[in-house]
Amino acid sequence: MPKTGKFIINSAKEYKNRSIDNRSEININVPTLAQRLEFSIAVLNRLLIGFVTFYMCWMCLRLKVKEIPFHALFCTVGFVFLMAEGLMAHYRSNAWSQLCYRPEKTRLHWILQLIGSIVGIIGIGIKICLENKHFYTIHGVLGLVTLILCLVSLASGLSSLYANELKQRLQPIINKAVHNALGLCTFTLAMLSMYYSFETEIFMDYSLDAANYMDFRLLMQIMICLILILSSYGPLWCFLYSKIWKCC
Ligand code: HEM
Repeated sequence: MPKTGKFIINSAKEYKNRSIDNRSEININVPTLAQRLEFSIAVLNRLLIGFVTFYMCWMCLRLKVKEIPFHALFCTVGFVFLMAEGLMAHYRSNAWSQLCYRPEKTRLHWILQLIGSIVGIIGIGIKICLENKHFYTIHGVLGLVTLILCLVSLASGLSSLYANELKQRLQPIINKAVHNALGLCTFTLAMLSMYYSFETEIFMDYSLDAANYMDFRLLMQIMICLILILSSYGPLWCFLYSKIWKCC
């Protein structure tokens, strides 16, 4: 039955009339301090991801179509926005996946990771096609390793999705731990590459004017470090406390 206003008012009256003992039973669902902290971390992370994504999209899309640096645009949306959201899909404190059960969270996780990887890979592909000289900066080399790891990580994701079917050949726990570790490495390298992207000529040419440039660049780099830490503490925790760790 849908919850009408009348229904809610009646429930509130009912709640008021309950004895104090009964109320303490209901209070069991009140979030703990740790849960509140986790929720605040997720909100902070989302604000940081939102700021970096919106700023980079604004920086790229306000230009004339011919000048738009699609590499920067696609890589930011794919690796920073979609991949970080995909990583957070399994979090208890993640607002939008709160209402989902585990299989739905898993589906959302792999869909976001797949789309994020495809968008990011297209972004890298665009730059490789445009450049004459390849992989000559820290940013470019880190980006290349990200690309390779991203492909391996997608393959490991597929094997992890079919962990039960493959259990004769590979223990599911190892299968999932390998995917977890590869996913973490890919995201870490993508964020490191993103960190150095703020030192490239695209950011220098199209970002804020010279007077504020260094401060703003530093701010963006700090934000990327925070996004890396706040998005990956979940999978890292999971990996450290997996049964593999306990066996060692
Ligand atoms: C995680 C996101 C990113 C990844 C994985 C990535 C990856 C790459 C790769 C692999 C290259 C080398 C292409 C080649 O040499 O053929 C490259 C070059 C380049 N990227 Fe990115 N990129 C990312 C984000 C960005 C952003 C946001 C910007 C701009 C603000 C940017 C600006 C550049 C520039 C100017 C080059 C050419 C010069 C150089 O290699 O440093 N990239 N990127």
